[in-house]
Amino acid sequence: MTAAEPVIPAFPPGGPVREGERARAGGRDLQGYPLLYAKWWTRRIGPKVVRRSGRAHRCPDQDGVTPMTSAPAPPLAPVFAPAGVYAPQHDTALLTRAVTAERPGPGTEVLDLGTGSGAVALHAARTGARVTAVDISWTAVLTARINAARAGCRVRVHRGDLTTPVTGRTFDLVVSNPPYVPAPQETLPASGPARAWDAGPDGRALLDRICADAPAALRPGGTLLLVHSALCGTETTLRRLAGAGMRAEVRDRARIPYGPVLNSRREWLVRQGLADGSPWEELVIIRAVHA
Ligand SMILES: C[S@@+](CC[C@H](N)C(=O)[O-])C[C@H]1O[C@@H](n2cnc3c(N)ncnc32)[C@H](O)[C@@H]1O
Repeated sequence: MTAAEPVIPAFPPGGPVREGERARAGGRDLQGYPLLYAKWWTRRIGPKVVRRSGRAHRCPDQDGVTPMTSAPAPPLAPVFAPAGVYAPQHDTALLTRAVTAERPGPGTEVLDLGTGSGAVALHAARTGARVTAVDISWTAVLTARINAARAGCRVRVHRGDLTTPVTGRTFDLVVSNPPYVPAPQETLPASGPARAWDAGPDGRALLDRICADAPAALRPGGTLLLVHSALCGTETTLRRLAGAGMRAEVRDRARIPYGPVLNSRREWLVRQGLADGSPWEELVIIRAVHA
C-alpha cells in the first residue's frame, strides 16, 4: 500500500491456511488456545509455509523513506507473511518506531488493531508488554499466531472486526496500521489482499471508526498510536479524535514514494482532489491521549 514492491512472496495454489484447516483442528473456537494452535500450525503447516514462501520479511527501516524525525527505526525480527497477509512495510516501521518511543514494558497492556503478520504486536511483546491483537482475516490471525510462537512471544490474537472481540476491555496502548488507501469502490473488500489497504473513496472507512472507538478501548491516560497516509486527511483525524475527547497531535512523519496500488490510482486520486499528482506520499503517526 505504501512503497509496496513485490514484498509478498508468491504462494502456490491451495495456500497456507483455509477454513478446512480450522475444521480439521476440531472446529473449536481456537481463541482460547492461541499458542497451542500456533504450535500445531507450526508443526503441521508452518514448515511448508516457510519452505514455500522462501524468505522472511523484515520491516524496510529507512530504505526508500525520507524520515522527518531523527529517531532511529528499531531493529525488527523478521516475520513470515504468506500471500494475502500484509508484509511489513514503511508504515509498519513507522508505527513500530512510535511504539518504541512509548517505552512499553512488563505491565503495559497493548492492543494491536489490524495486526496482519503480527509485526507490531511482536515488537511490543518483546518489551514484556501483554499484547492482544485483532484482525478480520483468518489467514492474518493464523500468521500472527505462528509468528508469535516462532518468536517465543505470547500474543493473544483474535479474529474479528476492530475492537469487537475485546469489547469491555481497556488497554494502556492501542496501536493500529489500518487500511487507509482511498479506493474508487464504496464497498470494502470482504476478502483478498486489498482488504489490507482499501478503505473507501476517502480512505477513512476504518480510520473514522477507530477515532470513535478508541476512547472506550483505552484506560484513562492511555495512548492511541495510528499511522496513515496524509492523503486521507491528517486534520480530519485530529479533529475526530478531539471530538471523541482525546488530545491528539502528529508525532512523526515520513515521505515515501507511491507504491503500485497508489500509482495505479494516481489519476483518480487527482480527480478526487485527494492528491496533486506527485509520486510521493506522506505518512503520519497520530498520537492521541485519553483524558
Ligand atoms: C495495512 S495492514 C497492517 C498490518 C500490520 N499491522 C502491519 O503494520 O504490518 C491492515 C490490516 O488490517 C486488517 N483489517 C482490515 N479490516 C479490518 C477490520 N475491520 N477489523 C480488523 N482488522 C482489519 C487487514 O486484514 C490487515 O491485516
